Amino acid sequence: MKITIVGAGAVGASCAEYIAIKNFASEVVLLDIKEGFAEGKAMDLMQTASLLNFDTKITGSTNDYSKTAGSEVAVITSGIPRKPGMTREELIGINASIVKQVSENLIKHSPDVTIIVVSNPMDTMTYLVHKTTSLPKNKIIGMGGALDSARFKYRLAEALEAPISDIDGMVIGGHSDKGMLPLTRLATRNSVKASEFLSEERLEKVAADTKVGGATLTGLLGTSAWYAPGAAVSSMVQAIVCDQKKMFPCSALLDGEYGMSDLCIGVPVILGKNGIEKIVAIDLNDAEKQKLAESAAGVQKTNGLLDL
Ligand code: LAC
Repeated sequence: MKITIVGAGAVGASCAEYIAIKNFASEVVLLDIKEGFAEGKAMDLMQTASLLNFDTKITGSTNDYSKTAGSEVAVITSGIPRKPGMTREELIGINASIVKQVSENLIKHSPDVTIIVVSNPMDTMTYLVHKTTSLPKNKIIGMGGALDSARFKYRLAEALEAPISDIDGMVIGGHSDKGMLPLTRLATRNSVKASEFLSEERLEKVAADTKVGGATLTGLLGTSAWYAPGAAVSSMVQAIVCDQKKMFPCSALLDGEYGMSDLCIGVPVILGKNGIEKIVAIDLNDAEKQKLAESAAGVQKTNGLLDL
């Protein structure tokens, strides 16, 4: 099966590499507008195949969408990343026109594709794809929660001085510094609540560090992160093409779930061959409901900037 990744920058290339290393896909097409760039990345990645033992064929294309025809899943990473001090929301103008054009081109050549949106501001870009294409809502998914949850688990493991494999935790809400909602109340170490080991203040610090996880890296790197975003997308792609029925928090179009409608925001979903197969309802307490409502208001404000 074929997977397309649009944008051969650091996130797109990392995603291609992780998909290839996991060896579940027959072909990955990397596409970029910069002449020769995707071809170069694809060639470099293919030269790791004999070293890393994968058989996935990675090809590159300079903006020729006919090469993406028949893709089962397509990942949109195109657009500009944020620089230190910028919010994801500030990227909306330029990225909205890019994401709209890219999704239209993808669907022209792969009418049954499932699209995963990574470009920021991600919840609003996911909403834009819903609004401007005729794909069913289960086939348009935003990547944010899988990444934010990985960052949450990293911070929990650090606080608990535990290996990450002991940790479980989830971040819902918008993929923004203010809007993320790390569910500290439900986080566990081997089924024991993290709150049994950590004070409320320490858990609040874990949540605060998680929420600025992307901004912290942007400050250190001078541009936004790529390894964890690439790995998060590759896990979502695998869940879909291998029909794993795995639960991830993803940005999904809500239609009454969690008491909200007509917006995309991070909620737990089951990913399988039909994309979003189910939105999972979890019991939130009043404080969490309030934070999710505030997060949704932030996403809706950014959605209001779209020229629909
Ligand atoms: C980040 C980008 C992918 O959080 O939004 O690193």
